[in-house]
Amino acid sequence: MNKLFSLKGKVIVVTGAAGLLGRQHVKAIAMAGGIPILLDINSFSLESIVNKINLDYKIESNGYKVDITNEKEVKKNCKVILKKYRKIDGLINNAANNPKMEISNNKNFSRLENFSTSSWENDISVGLKGAFLCSKHYGKAISNQGGSIINVSSDLGVIAPDQRLYRKNGLKDDLQPVKPVTYSVIKSGLIGLTKYLSTYWLKENVRCNAICPGGIETEQDPSFIQELCKRIPMGRMAKKSEYQGVILFLLSEASSYMTGSIINIDGGRTSW
Ligand SMILES: NC(=O)c1ccc[n+]([C@@H]2O[C@H](COP(=O)([O-])OP(=O)(O)OC[C@H]3O[C@@H](n4cnc5c(N)ncnc54)[C@H](O)[C@@H]3O)[C@@H](O)[C@H]2O)c1
Repeated sequence: MNKLFSLKGKVIVVTGAAGLLGRQHVKAIAMAGGIPILLDINSFSLESIVNKINLDYKIESNGYKVDITNEKEVKKNCKVILKKYRKIDGLINNAANNPKMEISNNKNFSRLENFSTSSWENDISVGLKGAFLCSKHYGKAISNQGGSIINVSSDLGVIAPDQRLYRKNGLKDDLQPVKPVTYSVIKSGLIGLTKYLSTYWLKENVRCNAICPGGIETEQDPSFIQELCKRIPMGRMAKKSEYQGVILFLLSEASSYMTGSIINIDGGRTSW
């Protein structure tokens, strides 16, 4: 059983590794004996995460400040990793833009009518261009000996956001916040990228699958949590560690016959 799920000696690149879920992926890889390579544009937290993980699991992981929207940086970093570790066995396309959508000048900028082309470009750049560039460079390196790519989509990659969840009392309809259009476009785009990559390097033994996680409970408004939970058959949001199992499964030999799968892990939300 241990062998089936083992990542012993596997070098796995994780984008957005300093974020909420990224840290969980990194921990899961280290727990299974793998060597996570942490990439993030936010170098502030990277060092402390890497130090802790190396100490806790007695491994030699590394963190790099990389803007995944910049091809030169991605290409250079890929060379650095290959020089140090000689190979790359896996990639988790996890990074995402998390912009604040403020109301100003009596406009809510999350709404489609007010959504700016610069927000569109920034979001798509991280979520889709970034995933494409990482797949192009780290994916090519993975194809030297085979391995696994995971794209982090969302339950909102397969269903529409229920905009009633984001409503705030006392605001007129045209000022109500919404889940931005880019979220749906990116998350369903990642499913397209998954299908494409799932067969692209098959001869080279590279598999690619997507996960579609539901929301993680953090410090959201209690009324938001309550409303969301009514739409989830299991009646609760996810704990941040609840995606580690599927990450291990998809990176390891346990999923050796899987490619192109889109896995919902959402307490049943997309079943209703
Ligand atoms: N948190 C949830 O409830 C949830 C639910 C479903 C799906 N997801 C998806 O999971 C993934 C991780 O979510 P999270 O909650 O950890 O988000 P997060 O905002 O905590 O982390 C995202 C990380 O990406 C990094 N990043 C942003 N732009 C970058 C760039 N250009 N180059 C490199 N790194 C960059 C950020 O610095 C941040 O550390 C995202 O794709 C998100 O859409 C999250």
